[in-house]
Amino acid sequence: MALIPPLPVRIVVAGCGNMSRAWIDYTLKRQDCQIVGLVDPDPEAIRRTKEAYALTEVPTGPDLAAVIRDSKAALVYNLAIPAAHYDITRTAFAAGCAVMSEKPLAESLDQADDLVAKARKNNLFFAVMQNRRYLEQIRSCRRLITDGVIGTPGYYGADFYLGPRFGGFRDLMASPLLLDMAIHTFDQARFLSDTRALSVYCHEFNPPGSWYQGNASAVALFELSDGSVFCYRGSWCAVGCQTSWEADWRITGSNGSIRWDGHTMPWAEIAAPEPDQGVRTFLPELNRVDGADVWHGQERHAGCLDEMFNALLSGRPAETDGTDNRHSLAMVMGAIESARTGRRLSLA
Ligand SMILES: NC(=O)c1ccc[n+]([C@@H]2O[C@H](COP(=O)([O-])OP(=O)(O)OC[C@H]3O[C@@H](n4cnc5c(N)ncnc54)[C@H](O)[C@@H]3O)[C@@H](O)[C@H]2O)c1
Repeated sequence: MALIPPLPVRIVVAGCGNMSRAWIDYTLKRQDCQIVGLVDPDPEAIRRTKEAYALTEVPTGPDLAAVIRDSKAALVYNLAIPAAHYDITRTAFAAGCAVMSEKPLAESLDQADDLVAKARKNNLFFAVMQNRRYLEQIRSCRRLITDGVIGTPGYYGADFYLGPRFGGFRDLMASPLLLDMAIHTFDQARFLSDTRALSVYCHEFNPPGSWYQGNASAVALFELSDGSVFCYRGSWCAVGCQTSWEADWRITGSNGSIRWDGHTMPWAEIAAPEPDQGVRTFLPELNRVDGADVWHGQERHAGCLDEMFNALLSGRPAETDGTDNRHSLAMVMGAIESARTGRRLSLA
């Protein structure tokens, strides 16, 4: 059982960029939390955040250990660029703080394993933001699967095609799509299938017209631990015919298929009972089953943060605990390594 911090939970925000706004907005609505420090190597980012949220009195600066010490924080929000995630979480753990981190958990599996081990050894809470699990639609899609509506699933397919022009760190990363975005879709596949990946074969590339320095497109094929297959096709430099940020899904099972376009509620088409027992028709009659509304919590970041705080304050691991999230990161790292070597890679 992880240590439960005293109330109000004293929080240092490490990384005062764009994403910090969602986290701070959420936090300021809670009665049981207090933002007590801001950390960023960029003084301008700190100044903007201080002013926007009237946090004028809190300790600030580039040195996380010093700000934790001066503010007596118990929890660190790790919202910096991915390259800084490992050092920030390590420093927070060394100071005895719990950590809630933006994805990706770290930039390598060795780093991830080290952080997970440190959290476990020191009884510290460690959870990772996977906001795309906290949506009415994906919960509904999962319920269609777990209720057995399509029988036994054998295939999960996700298409992700968008062309955002971020500028900044993503334009410079070697694998911007796989490391910064596909972690969401891979984690969604694990969430939907309740599995881990056993192997991956991936081809990563940077198509004509891409404005990224690294590879902004990839096709990856995973073998999942229940024997099913997950096929991911994605691009972050696709102009036109764009999919949703949640990806466009097709899941096929032994008795039917689910479609979820990431914009609207999922639905299934399943084989109707055969009119003549024992006689199989060439193509069966199909019945439509609409996904039910089964999620009544908040959505996106707020939904994941609700779960993280419920877990933190009751001493249990969060649904997106580092130990579990490591398996989603393993899919990302495995895909990158498979693309580099041109070989199918075991993740078992
Ligand atoms: N969950 C999501 O849907 C989602 C969406 C966007 C971004 N993100 C993640 O959020 C994180 C931040 O992304 P962003 O869009 O806010 O980027 P950003 O570039 O707007 O902000 C990053 C901030 O981190 C700061 N920083 C760099 N090194 C630091 C360090 N050592 N200590 C403290 N701060 C440091 C930078 O100065 C900058 O202010 C990334 O990990 C990104 O992948 C998640």
